[in-house]
This record gives sequence, C-alpha cells and structure tokens, in this order.
Amino acid sequence: MSVPIRVCLVGAGRAGKVHANSLVVHVPGGHLVGVVDSSAEALQDTGDQFAVDARFETLEAALDGLEFDAVVITTPTFAHRSLAVAAAEAGKHVFLEKPMALTIAECDEIIEAAERNGVLLQIGFMRRFAPEFVAAFERIQAGEIGRPMIIKSLSHGPGLPPPWARDLKKSNGMLAEVNSHDWDCIRWLMESNPQRVYAEVANFKGEARGVDVPDFYDNALVNVRFENGSLGSISGVCPCDYGYDARVEIVGELGIMQIGEMQKQAVVVCTDREHGLVTPIFRGWAERFAWGYIREMEHFIQCIQAGTPARVGGQDGRWAVAGALAGTRSFFEERPVYLSEILDEAWTPS
Ligand SMILES: NC(=O)c1ccc[n+]([C@@H]2O[C@H](COP(=O)([O-])OP(=O)(O)OC[C@H]3O[C@@H](n4cnc5c(N)ncnc54)[C@H](O)[C@@H]3O)[C@@H](O)[C@H]2O)c1
Repeated sequence: MSVPIRVCLVGAGRAGKVHANSLVVHVPGGHLVGVVDSSAEALQDTGDQFAVDARFETLEAALDGLEFDAVVITTPTFAHRSLAVAAAEAGKHVFLEKPMALTIAECDEIIEAAERNGVLLQIGFMRRFAPEFVAAFERIQAGEIGRPMIIKSLSHGPGLPPPWARDLKKSNGMLAEVNSHDWDCIRWLMESNPQRVYAEVANFKGEARGVDVPDFYDNALVNVRFENGSLGSISGVCPCDYGYDARVEIVGELGIMQIGEMQKQAVVVCTDREHGLVTPIFRGWAERFAWGYIREMEHFIQCIQAGTPARVGGQDGRWAVAGALAGTRSFFEERPVYLSEILDEAWTPS
C-alpha cells in the first residue's frame, strides 16, 4: 500500500479547481490538505467547494502552519518562479502549471532549486497524458506514418483569458498562455527541438472587448523549423468564441495522422434542413482535456510515491517558454528568430 501524498494547492482559480477536483475525486493516492490564495474570495470559494479547512493567504503561511509533501502551483505565470523555488527549498515536490515561468533565467532557477533539494518537478502539460495524444505518440514511435515531416498544431480558446494573461509583461501573451501546449506537443511528437521560428500576430476582437493593454493580440500563426530538418506550424486564436478546439496533424513519409476532433460526442442530430447536422463541441479546456488532467495528477502522485522522475519536467517547460519567447521576439522584430538567440541572450518582451 503506497503512502498517501499530502498536497497543498497554491492558486485557487480556474486551473486550481480542476486539479483540486482530480485530487479529491479521481486520484486516491493524493490528499488535498490545504489551499493557498492571495484572494480571500477565491480561498473561500475553492476551500468550501472541496471541503478543505486549512486555508492560507501565502505559501509561507502554509509552510509554517501545515504539514504536506507537495504543492500544485496554479497561480498566474508571473508568480511561478518565487513560489516554485520556495516550495522546492522547503523540500516539497512541485507540480507547476504551464507556462513554467516568464524567462529562461527563471526556468533555470526553478530547475536548479528542484535538483538541489531532490524534489520532483512536473510541468502541467496534460496533453502528454490525454489518451488520444498518448496513442498518437505510440503509433508514431511504431513507425505507422514513417518519419514525421510536417506537424501542424492548433489551440483555439473560446473566451478572453483572465486580465493578467492578456498582459505580455505578466504572461508573455497568447503564444505562452494558450500555445504553451502546442510548443510542448510539437517538440514531443517530432522528437526534435525547434531551431528557428517566424511568427505573425493580429488583433481582431480585443478593442471591441475593451482590452487596452499594449501589444495585445488574439490571433497568431507561427512557422517552425526543427533541429532535425522537419517543419511545423502553430496556430492560436483566443477568443475564438465557438468552443475549445485543439487538433494536430502530422504528415509522415508513409502517411498522415490527425489527433483530436472538434466534436465532443458521437451524437449527431438533424431536425431541419436549415441547421443541418448538429453535434456538441467542447466548451472549454477543462472539458476537452478532462482525462489528461486526471492522468497527469495520477502520474505526479505515483512518481512521488515511487521516487521516479516525471515524464514531463523542467527541461520540457523551459523549451516551451523558449518557443513562446522566440515567437514573441519574431513578431516584435518582424523576422525569423533562432531559439539560440532566446536561450543565449535572455530576451523578454518587457
Ligand atoms: N494546463 C492548462 O490547460 C491550463 C488551463 C488554464 C490555466 N492554466 C495555467 O494555470 C495558471 C493559473 O491560471 P488560471 O486560469 O487558473 O488563473 P486564475 O486567474 O483563474 O487563478 C489564479 C489564482 O491565483 C491567485 N494568486 C495570484 N498570485 C498568487 C500568489 N502569489 N499566491 C497565491 N495565490 C495567488 C489568484 O488570486 C487567483 O485566484 C496559469 O499558469 C495558467 O497558464 C493551465
């Protein structure tokens, strides 16, 4: 019988609730024992919903007043570095939501703190645990489509992101906040690091919806060249309004593979000629990747119990941050950008 792992949730907003639900409902080895949030309202809301009495306004207060083994960090990106480093220094295992941090230097600080203190570091790339993505990875590995030549990955989110995530200085913008998953997936599925990227962005809906932060964009298209010579593209649209849409297409030397679909259920209804075939779409990310979120939290708890490394760790998070920064630099400077420029020069959009 494995030892139960006591988890403190840090950040009780949208993503925090998804992970709290996984721990309370789906992952018996993980016990949600405390909640931290700087907002009293979020603390009460999430604490009440998951019947957790130990509530704190800061991680420091939780470290002083509560016994636990691990943190799940689901605060905005700009708070990731300080919280992840503090948790690791206190000997707590760290599950850290994407984007890992704002800069490569921050990623390195987190990786070093985890290594120095011998704690697990897992990044919240749940697509790596979503059944259809796992099956696709295994079938590429088995050689079904031959050597992958081109990958196209899209993530379209229905609504405006929270206010902090619209601000490039606090989030690195949509290429990080939404497309982190694409940056990670294309690198994982193609088994190669991105080498050079060229990004174009546009802002279609922001002004009409009252977004007035500088450099806001709601559409992005990125071309990618990988170190192994293969090619890729990433598309981001947020808000797209029509639902949550995450799909990937890979062209290999022997065939083509498509991952994901817009259709949420196999139920299709037709009642009149005007509306045609009607079937539900995924409304949001929590619904689209429900199994991915559960499986990644199971993995986190099992790795702590077994003392094994996470399947998706700090280096993966760091590459996704590098991709988002390279894309951002590309549209700022209106030119293709090599990843080496980001990894070597500590560039940020601020
Ligand atoms: N994996 C995914 O698919 C996915 C989906 C959504 C969000 N996320 C990520 O989760 C993180 C949070 O996003 P969200 O949408 O839940 O944001 P949110 O704004 O809904 O919630 C963030 C919460 O963190 C709290 N907070 C801020 N600073 C804090 C601090 N220093 N200490 C404690 N609490 C603090 C806020 O009060 C808020 O309640 C981001 O990194 C985001 O990119 C991941």
